[in-house]
Amino acid sequence: MTILIGAPGSGKGTIAQKVQAALGVKHVSTGAILRAAVSNGTEAGKQAQGYIDRGELVPDAAMANLIGELLDQQPRGAHLLLDGYPRTIAQAELLVGITDKYGIDNVRVVCIELSEDVILKRLGGRRSCPQCGASFHVTTYAPKVEGICDHCGAKLVARPDDQPETIRHRLEIYEEKTAPLIDWYRSRGQLVCVDAQEGSAAVARKIIAMLSAD
Ligand code: AP5
Repeated sequence: MTILIGAPGSGKGTIAQKVQAALGVKHVSTGAILRAAVSNGTEAGKQAQGYIDRGELVPDAAMANLIGELLDQQPRGAHLLLDGYPRTIAQAELLVGITDKYGIDNVRVVCIELSEDVILKRLGGRRSCPQCGASFHVTTYAPKVEGICDHCGAKLVARPDDQPETIRHRLEIYEEKTAPLIDWYRSRGQLVCVDAQEGSAAVARKIIAMLSAD
């Protein structure tokens, strides 16, 4: 199992898609799963929507149910690439229990580092596909046809939580609740960090090389 940790907009989803295509690992994004639950109007989605729209974390208890069910559905031995989970120390502790239960002992954590000014530019120009979840950027990662998803042809939108005030709040929550996981995993000898200033193909290549070397 590989875990991607990084601030909102650091490129976790974009990189995970490339790593999945190159290595055949399974990209699991809790943000994408929650957004799908919201758009499908499920009970879990209704409970999560306010938190997502405000840029806050969905409570750990609700996430515990989601991640437990999700991992139960995965085939034994699948290499999962977790994007967006864990996001708190409590979630990381729960995940240790789950990986122990499934006998998963090779857990690597990749921390994606990016300065806040670049993050603000990336999120300001992000356009997302509400249908398949693909993510684009108006200048650095533009779709072939403006405003249209390359993969499924749906109309691209700015995510509701990509408004400037909400982005700032998400960054504060990241510093307060998620960034402490970096030292938590470093102290366990599981952490490697990658600078994400370069283009997404170059950043993904570094991670693919790292994961392939094991
Ligand atoms: P989630 O969807 O996980 O949001 P996030 O962590 O804020 O991350 P983002 O999806 O915004 O960014 P990203 O790092 O994937 O960047 P991207 O690749 O798109 O979660 C959403 C919400 O769900 C949370 O706020 C919370 O409410 C809830 N939630 C989810 N998990 C939870 C959990 N475990 N516990 C509690 N609540 C949870 O890239 C951004 C832009 O930059 C794109 O436009 C892209 O094209 C561009 N880009 C990417 N890489 C590069 C590059 N190298 N060079 C140039 N441009 C690039």
